[in-house]
Amino acid sequence: MRTRPLKVALLGCGVVGSEVARIMTTHADDLTARIGAPVELAGVAVRRPDRVREGIAPELVTTDATALVKRGDIDVVVEVIGGIEPARTLITTAFEHGASVVSANKALLAQDGAALHAAAEEHGRDLYYEAAVAGAIPLIRPLRESLAGDKINRVMGIVNGTTNFILDKMDSTGAGYQEALDEATALGYAEADPTADVEGFDAAAKAAILAAIAFHTRVRLDDVHREGMTEVTAADFASAKEMGCTIKLLAICERAEDGGSVTARVHPAMIPLSHPLASVRGAYNAVFVESDAAGQLMFYGPGAGGSPTASAVLGDIVAVCRNRIGGATGPGESAYAALPVSPMGDVVTRYHISLDVADKPGVLAQVATVFAEHGVSIDTVRQSGKDGEASLVVVTHRASDAALTGTVEALRKLDTVRGVASIMRVEGE
Ligand SMILES: NC(=O)c1ccc[n+]([C@@H]2O[C@H](COP(=O)([O-])OP(=O)(O)OC[C@H]3O[C@@H](n4cnc5c(N)ncnc54)[C@H](OP(=O)(O)O)[C@@H]3O)[C@@H](O)[C@H]2O)c1
Repeated sequence: MRTRPLKVALLGCGVVGSEVARIMTTHADDLTARIGAPVELAGVAVRRPDRVREGIAPELVTTDATALVKRGDIDVVVEVIGGIEPARTLITTAFEHGASVVSANKALLAQDGAALHAAAEEHGRDLYYEAAVAGAIPLIRPLRESLAGDKINRVMGIVNGTTNFILDKMDSTGAGYQEALDEATALGYAEADPTADVEGFDAAAKAAILAAIAFHTRVRLDDVHREGMTEVTAADFASAKEMGCTIKLLAICERAEDGGSVTARVHPAMIPLSHPLASVRGAYNAVFVESDAAGQLMFYGPGAGGSPTASAVLGDIVAVCRNRIGGATGPGESAYAALPVSPMGDVVTRYHISLDVADKPGVLAQVATVFAEHGVSIDTVRQSGKDGEASLVVVTHRASDAALTGTVEALRKLDTVRGVASIMRVEGE
């Protein structure tokens, strides 16, 4: 065993960083044995130096993160600040000064992953980010390493615990969106400003990272079609129940059937209660992977929180330290497939559409004609109504999003269609 310790610089000591520091200290002997050398916390960069940080020697704390990563004797920089800057510059500076990097920063990886991987490669260092997607759940490494010999066709997951908590509440109690959000906020599952979660930005960043790794191609945040879940209503859940479904905010990354392109999207969708993702409750995350040889795989666990996320960060620290001792680097970016990312209009799936219509003869035939004219085949229709007003629920067979959009535009122009109450994709069948 070598005795010179590997030096770790921790950038950020908040929810995740404080747990990383705690586990590094309490598990020091095991980490030393597993890595083959001691790991030493060499510095901790924060914004507010005067805060009490339990278990961290005050002399390690600094507000000068740049000086810390430039020291030259740091082996591993752990970036758990979050956001784009100064995290991006600190990571590239770390590579320039000889360190490998472990990050939990999904926003940065989804936006600038390619450039950061290039910087790591240029300097012969590692960039690991298991914690950036679905917290504690081992996902990046299984996709990047365990499934490297297989062909992944689809990755579909619940990758945001806040939105799953809200939707699960709506499903189990019949609550509306606002009521469920208020409860999530009161219990600490939703932030004061929940936009990043409920509008799907957080899940979209994770979808970009997953798609890039799964399909060996570059997928950026801007390539991901994103719809939030703020418009989901108690009525949508009632409709879902009638179909034997529930509603989840899903991140879906797919290879086109001809293999020539990929898509990545985040939106609420109905899934059958029999699908494994339907039983993911509360703030848990799960990701369902379909591949040629392995078939169907499910990864499940806590997708956030200080300690679970720190578990993933520590796994990366161990891997990166082992690489350094062995004089090696782990797998870098794999984007050789260079597949184009198709627009949402090319996505093919099923749809559940609720229409408010006039309750008179011939309306159903008129609506059916519009679907037929746009090449969207109807699976089932359910009609109910009284006093001159009626509602029609149409479930389609698989159709492209572009065809469905054209259908809905035409339906809105019909005199007999008073409104389109909701459109929801149906996945996982
Ligand atoms: N929280 C989770 O459950 C979770 C799960 C998965 C991934 N992540 C990711 O992990 C990262 C960290 O999240 P978090 O929840 O731990 O955030 P957090 O609690 O807000 O902590 C951020 C830390 O960064 C420090 N910081 C902010 N600006 C800085 C600067 N310019 N220089 C040096 N330090 C600075 C803060 O210092 P002060 O302490 O002085 O304010 C704080 O210690 C994010 O990328 C996030 O997306 C979080």
